[in-house]
Amino acid sequence: MMSSTSFSQEKIFLPPPKKSKFSLDEALDVRKSIRDYPSLPLTLEGVSNLLWAGYGKNRWGRKTVPSAGALYPIFLYIVVGEVEGLDKGIYLYNSGEHTLTKLSSEDTRFQLARASLNQRWVKTAPLLIIISADFSITTSHYGKRGVRYVWMEIGYVSQNIYLEATALKLATVAVGAFYDEEVKEILNIKKEPLLIMPVGRPKEGRW
Ligand SMILES: Cc1cc2nc3c(=O)[nH]c(=O)nc-3n(C[C@H](O)[C@H](O)[C@H](O)COP(=O)(O)O)c2cc1C
Repeated sequence: MMSSTSFSQEKIFLPPPKKSKFSLDEALDVRKSIRDYPSLPLTLEGVSNLLWAGYGKNRWGRKTVPSAGALYPIFLYIVVGEVEGLDKGIYLYNSGEHTLTKLSSEDTRFQLARASLNQRWVKTAPLLIIISADFSITTSHYGKRGVRYVWMEIGYVSQNIYLEATALKLATVAVGAFYDEEVKEILNIKKEPLLIMPVGRPKEGRW
C-alpha cells in the first residue's frame, strides 16, 4: 500500500481531499477568526483539504474559486511548523496536481511573525498558508482593472480556507498586516503576499 506521503521528483503527493458532511450553512453559522492555537500538530489530510478548498480542482476540472478570464493568478505557499507526515519548511501548492513542491527546510514562522507586527498567532500556528499573487498574469490581459480582480480572487480563496477550517474543526484567521517586502524576502518568493492564514487546532471546547 502506498503511504499517504510519497516523494517523486521533489514533489509530495497530498492525499485526496475527503469531502465532509459538514454543511455549508453550518460552517457559515459558526465561523469566526481564532488566534489561539495549542501546540498540537495538524494532519496531512487536514492540510490536503485546506489547500484543496482554497485553490484545488473540483470534479469538473475547475478550481474551487472563480477567476477573471480563467487566468488564475493566485499561488499558495505553506510554512510547515508541526504537520504529521510533512517536514518543517516552505512549500508551494501545485493545485492542478494536488502536490506540494518543497522550496526550503526552514521554519520561518518566527521571522514571519516579526514581519507581521509581532502577531503571536503567526509564530504559534502549526501551519501558515500564504496567499500570494502574480498580478501581471491578470493585468497583462485586463490592464489596471486586473488589479481589483486579483484582490477579489484572494477573497474567494481566503473565505474557502476559513470555511474548510471550520468544517474540519480547525482554527484560522486572515492576517493582512505585514511588511510585504520582508515577507517576500523571508520566503524567497517573487509573488506578492496578500494574506497569511495561520491554521491550528482550536483550544478545547472552543467550538
Ligand atoms: C483583509 C483582512 C485583513 C485582516 N488582517 C488581520 C490581521 O492582520 N490580524 C488579525 O489578527 N486579524 C486580521 N483580520 C481578521 C479580522 O480582524 C476579523 O475578521 C474581524 O475582527 C472579524 O472577526 P471574525 O472574523 O471572527 O468575524 C483581517 C481580516 C481581513 C478581512
